[in-house]
Amino acid sequence: MPPAIYTDKHAALGISDIRLDCPVITGTEGEQAIDVAQLRARTGLVALDPAFVNTAAVKSSITFLDGELGILRYRGIPIEELADRSSFVETSYLLVYGDLPNHEQLHRFSTLLTRHSLIHEDMKNFFTGFPPGAHPMAVLASMVVSLGTYYPDSLNVDNRAQMDITIARLISKVRTIAAFAYKKSIGQPFVYPQNHLRYCANFLNMMFSVPAEPYEVDPELEKAMNLLLILHADHEQNCSTSTVRMVGSAKANLFASISAGICALWGPLHGGANQEVIEMLENIRDDGGNVKKYVALAKDKASTFRLMGFGHRVYKNFDPRAKLIKVAADRVLSRLGIKDPLLDIAKELEDAALSDDYFIERKLYPNVDFYSGIIYRAMGFPTNMFTVLFALGRLPGWIAHWREMMLDPTTKIARPRQLYTGPTHRHYVPLEERG
Ligand code: ACO
Repeated sequence: MPPAIYTDKHAALGISDIRLDCPVITGTEGEQAIDVAQLRARTGLVALDPAFVNTAAVKSSITFLDGELGILRYRGIPIEELADRSSFVETSYLLVYGDLPNHEQLHRFSTLLTRHSLIHEDMKNFFTGFPPGAHPMAVLASMVVSLGTYYPDSLNVDNRAQMDITIARLISKVRTIAAFAYKKSIGQPFVYPQNHLRYCANFLNMMFSVPAEPYEVDPELEKAMNLLLILHADHEQNCSTSTVRMVGSAKANLFASISAGICALWGPLHGGANQEVIEMLENIRDDGGNVKKYVALAKDKASTFRLMGFGHRVYKNFDPRAKLIKVAADRVLSRLGIKDPLLDIAKELEDAALSDDYFIERKLYPNVDFYSGIIYRAMGFPTNMFTVLFALGRLPGWIAHWREMMLDPTTKIARPRQLYTGPTHRHYVPLEERG
């Protein structure tokens, strides 16, 4: 049996009279990559691959996904098993540290998260500096990078002793910051974390309780929250994770790297799509519910409209997360006794798109964002918080990648090349001589 990662083939690249032998590296799941590390040094040429469609930027042992077969595994464990049996805290540990924790490791990790849930009291003042309509993703990104100012010891990424505590601080405090941002936006008092509550219940309590009356966390909501966070927890080298790695490769501290990842996630083609999906479904509803009209619009090349929550760079068959979330949407809404017309429109839209040649030919399927917003909506989250919830879920994945990179002695600063297409050499012309 070959070793886990091995090279037994070579690809040859011939340019003029130069012949470059490139090792073909096979990963643990049989995927193969041509190693072009010597390309520029030996030939003077660079590889041009816009949007990294063909480029593996790293070797990583965190998450495996097969877009053709719809497989997603964290550290080897299928997402379906984790969704069914794990907790978000346990899954976070798995992603960051590589294995499921034993009793003692889980206890230690959970205790760290519990102990570090408060933010510095002075940070509460930051929230008042934002205008009333501030998008909570902007607030979250600002607050996360600001955390670094309170923990100067964590700014040196080579300080290994600090790494675990910084990781726990971040996973715990981002939850508090997200809930405080929401409370500020609706003018309610901040609700502090409660040590006796589990991770998701604690978050829901900070979000939805008010000091004036008792609040019991609905176990159905806690379960749904747990599921959604697990399903979002990692997705290998997506746009935001690659951003975290890019920033971290300059040895930027964890707070700064994660803040950059949050900004990338905010984009509507990435995590911001969950907000866009609900806004699209609302538009369709307000426009009389004519699903076919919007499917036609999405196909119309003269229009910029796309079916939000549809399509994926990697999944070309189905997104296993979307499959689980669709089932959960039905279950959560029925248990909460909620009838949401947007769910019916979403299903109608999915059926219409999946039987349409345009979507079939291009292998466009619902992605993770298509049904998640319907659950968040039923749980009482406002639309502009959806991407924040995605960030909360994706956090352990980002951290796992940042840590993997920091512990790898071969890591170098990420610095892509380009193919220059601008003007060739020309001279400065004084202002008065310009036409
Ligand atoms: N609606 C209509 N057409 C689409 C859609 C869509 N949602 N997605 C892709 N297409 C079409 C494109 O127009 C293109 O058609 P063409 O070949 O005729 O030019 C073809 O399908 C391929 O699309 P690309 O944009 O080249 O695919 P890419 O891999 O670059 O983009 C992406 C993937 C960004 C997810 C895209 O499918 C999209 O914009 N989807 C909507 C936004 C969305 O849901 N994003 C969330 C993704 S999941 C996540 O990040 C968490």
